[in-house]
Parts: sequence; C-alpha cells; structure tokens
Amino acid sequence: MTDAFTVAIDGPAAAGKGTVSRAVAETLGFAHLDTGLLYRAVGARMLSGEDPVAAARTLDPAAFDEDRLRSDPVAQAASEIAVLPDVRAALVDFQRAFARRPGGAVLDGRDIGTVICPDAEAKLFVTASAECRAERRYRELRGKGAEVTPDGVLEDVRARDARDSGRAVAPLKPAEDAVTIDTTAMSIEEAVARAVAVVRSRRG
Ligand code: DC
Repeated sequence: MTDAFTVAIDGPAAAGKGTVSRAVAETLGFAHLDTGLLYRAVGARMLSGEDPVAAARTLDPAAFDEDRLRSDPVAQAASEIAVLPDVRAALVDFQRAFARRPGGAVLDGRDIGTVICPDAEAKLFVTASAECRAERRYRELRGKGAEVTPDGVLEDVRARDARDSGRAVAPLKPAEDAVTIDTTAMSIEEAVARAVAVVRSRRG
C-alpha cells in the first residue's frame, strides 16, 4: 500500500476544475472527491424542506444521485448553504479522512488548499475569466436541453462567484503556495498536462 498524497484543486465554478481533477486522479491512480457534491447534496435537501445543518450531519455520499445534483437550482442552493459555518464544519472530517486515504487522493472544491488540507502535498488553483466560464457552462446546459440564455448564465456565474468569494467563512481564494492554472486560453488537454506536470514535480 502506498502512502497518502493529497492533491488540492480549488477554483471558481466552470473553470475546468472537475475535468482537470478527474484526469489527474486517473493518470496517477488516485481516488477523487468532488467536494462540491457534498454542498450540492445539502442544497438539494434544503430545497426539499430539510434543515441544512441537520442534512450536512447525516449525509451519505455513497447514495448521491449525481445527475440530480448537477442541476442549476441545486447549484444555487449549494452556494447559499455553503455560507453556513455549521454546515461547513459538519463536512470537514469526511473530506480530511478522504484526503489521507492510502494511495493518494485528489479533492476539488473552493477551500481545499486553504482550510480542509492546508498541508496538501500539491495545490492547484484552476481558474478562467467569468465570460469564458459562462460560455462553457451555457454550451453544457444547452447540450442537456436546458432553456437558458447566455446573459442569464453569465449572471448566475457572477452571482455564485460573488457569494463564494465574498463569504466570511472559507471564501474562495488561492492558497499562498498554490500553482494557478488559468484555462481561459487553454484546451482541456493543455490544462490537464500542466496540472499533471505540477503534481508530478511535487511527488519527486
Ligand atoms: O463546485 P460546485 O459548483 O459543484 O460547488 C457548488 C457550491 O458548493 C459552490 O457554489 C460553493 C460550494 N462549495 C464550497 O463552498 N466549498 C467547496 N469545497 C466546494 C463547493
């Protein structure tokens, strides 16, 4: 069994973080946790009328229905409950245990390198301009048949950025020792290659 090795990948919505994280995990044979799903699951349960803190304390990540959690109303609800300190606190232990599992782990989110795993062996901040992220998200949503407009999606991206970066607890920001990858002018392949190179350089 190989040692634990944590890769922390943070960044705003629709910057390519998920794609980069999955590819890094697959290339290195590490486990992957999309921590946004934890907040989305709490948001979904709030939309069903549950208290978000109680929901966060009783989450069962093994039972997540990813398709349902990917919807836009759930994303907005996730961003709203993510400002609650008691919700965030309830999700810490699960994330830290995942990060230290033997064999290596990639966690992506907003506060992995800053709060959840400040001692992560490799830290990346994957970002892109708001316009670029909105355009990618618009195409993705249209591809799924959603009734959206480019301006509406850009507005949603900006609203979520403001909430994620402006909140008092664990706001979105790069860790001081994170390597920033701006994917605005990059292909997916370029972004993945750069991320894998950074992680490999940390592994020595
Ligand atoms: O990455 P995502 O779009 O699935 O995240 C959904 C929301 O969850 C996002 O708006 C902010 C919140 N989130 C968070 O606060 N901290 C994390 N580590 C991951 C997500």
